[in-house]
Amino acid sequence: MARILITSALPYINGVKHMGNLAGSMLPADVYARAMRLLGHEVLYICATDEHGTPAELAAQAAGLEVAEYCEAMHVAQKEAGANFKLSYDYFGRSSAPSNHALTQHFANVLEEKGLIEERTSQQVYSNADGRFLPDRYVEGTCPTCDFEKARGDQCDNCGRLLDPVDLINPYSAVSGSHDVEVRDTNHLYLKQSVMSDKLRAWVDASEGWPNLASSIAYKWLDEGLRDRAITRDLKWGIPVIDHVGNRREGFEEKVFYVWFDAPIEYIAATQDWAEETGSDWERWWRTDKGANDVEYVQFMGKDNVAFHTLSFPTTILGSGEPWKLVDRLKAFNWVTWYGGKFSTSNKRGVFMDQAIDIAPSDYWRWHLMANSPESADAAFTWEEFQLGVNSDLANVLGNFVNRITKYCASKFDGEIPEGGEHGDAEAWLVTELQTRIPDLVKFYENREFRKAMAETRAIWAAGNEYLTQAAPWSHYKTDIDKAAVGVRVGLNLVALFGIIAQPIIPDAAAKILDAINIPEGNRSWNFGDAAGIVALIDALPTGLPIAPPELLFTKIEDEDVARWSEQFGGASE
Ligand code: 2FM
Ligand code: ZN
Repeated sequence: MARILITSALPYINGVKHMGNLAGSMLPADVYARAMRLLGHEVLYICATDEHGTPAELAAQAAGLEVAEYCEAMHVAQKEAGANFKLSYDYFGRSSAPSNHALTQHFANVLEEKGLIEERTSQQVYSNADGRFLPDRYVEGTCPTCDFEKARGDQCDNCGRLLDPVDLINPYSAVSGSHDVEVRDTNHLYLKQSVMSDKLRAWVDASEGWPNLASSIAYKWLDEGLRDRAITRDLKWGIPVIDHVGNRREGFEEKVFYVWFDAPIEYIAATQDWAEETGSDWERWWRTDKGANDVEYVQFMGKDNVAFHTLSFPTTILGSGEPWKLVDRLKAFNWVTWYGGKFSTSNKRGVFMDQAIDIAPSDYWRWHLMANSPESADAAFTWEEFQLGVNSDLANVLGNFVNRITKYCASKFDGEIPEGGEHGDAEAWLVTELQTRIPDLVKFYENREFRKAMAETRAIWAAGNEYLTQAAPWSHYKTDIDKAAVGVRVGLNLVALFGIIAQPIIPDAAAKILDAINIPEGNRSWNFGDAAGIVALIDALPTGLPIAPPELLFTKIEDEDVARWSEQFGGASE
């Protein structure tokens, strides 16, 4: 059995995430974590809120709160949203935690000792009215390309051009609106990524199991030539830069580390906090000199995060020269779009995690988002597809099967798994199906091919319906009760199997199914065995075991629901 460390990209603190964010990192990481646990692996699944940077300061300002207060509240909200979607984190930390301050500082010190960090002077906009240097997004002005008057320092929203704030015409402070700004020299710490280029390339060359999306992004940056990167910013909120005697570094009293420098370090720091809280050992997950050599480390993220995880963070890790664990497998996702366009809070387009849970149970979302995972291309969310998937796959295929056979057993066989009868053609057909489908399902999970894993799950459920059509216990009941008993017994064993394979995706419905047929907690893991083991699967439950039909598993989504939600959250008509 393996030890698998799983992290999903840390959600920014600035608001509860939308369904696209959920589908592009946290949810697939959770489904993978659950599947690997069921296969008997030792899994540690870590996530946290990413709490620093300009977006955090801006969002706090908009909410009229101190940044620390805002982050505290939003951390709680995001943690709750995750729990509502049954995200089974072993730990959900905060990048603002003391552990991350200490570890970020540690990496900065070591990298500086190794000559990989140096102080450089650059030109930056200073606001006299605000008494501070302005980070890129805090400077606005006229775009030199298209004359748009409200271009941001980092990018013009009108023409899309990437900007340097010193290029803006007629610049002003977005903090105070003051035009009393000037360009001054200032110092920042730079991480010398260029020096690490060859080492990084060798590491990327040696990596295995990265999807093309991830390796092609890494190579694109390597081929263009890695640039050294400023890792400090002029912000109050963040991790301060400390000197060797514990004071704020001279010239950096008003500066903190760049959010993308400290955020990935939080993967490690959150593990330290988890270990502290649970009395566990974090080093065996992260230090290759302390046992982490055996760990398989898998990261989940959206494609915009790939460069940071394949180049920037590895620069920190490799550059330190210390025995830290590097990522082994990396799963990157494209976007979920809203009817082909962008999710937008201000235009009321799209559903956010806190709203989604009021609309439909988490299982519905989990199934739909995983079955339509944006793995190889962007995937458009539409209410119509959501309705179709839930109604046909969950309600018709899985729900009906479970209801039909459990109700029949309750009414004709006293609600107990019947004995008697012998396997025949229908059972032989079923076994052949399962002998190819179950190993494939496991393989798809192991390879993190989620759409395929969902399609295989659906196909196994559908095979159950096909089996019942062939076995038709109801048509044999009067003439050959033993033959009917076989159909019911095998059908109920399939109910157990279907619940067991549903667990990573739709944990609530799976638990309802398994509870209804009295499968003990300890018998819910994935020990499918070899071909012979799979033969045994269809007759594994003890005869006489009492079962009961579960309460209604899936309520169908009606056209009126779709119409109402489209109205409320935007849809095709917009
Ligand atoms: O893109 C994002 O949402 C970032 N907050 C992800 C950060 S991942 C990390 F911490 F490395
Ligand atoms: Zn422009």
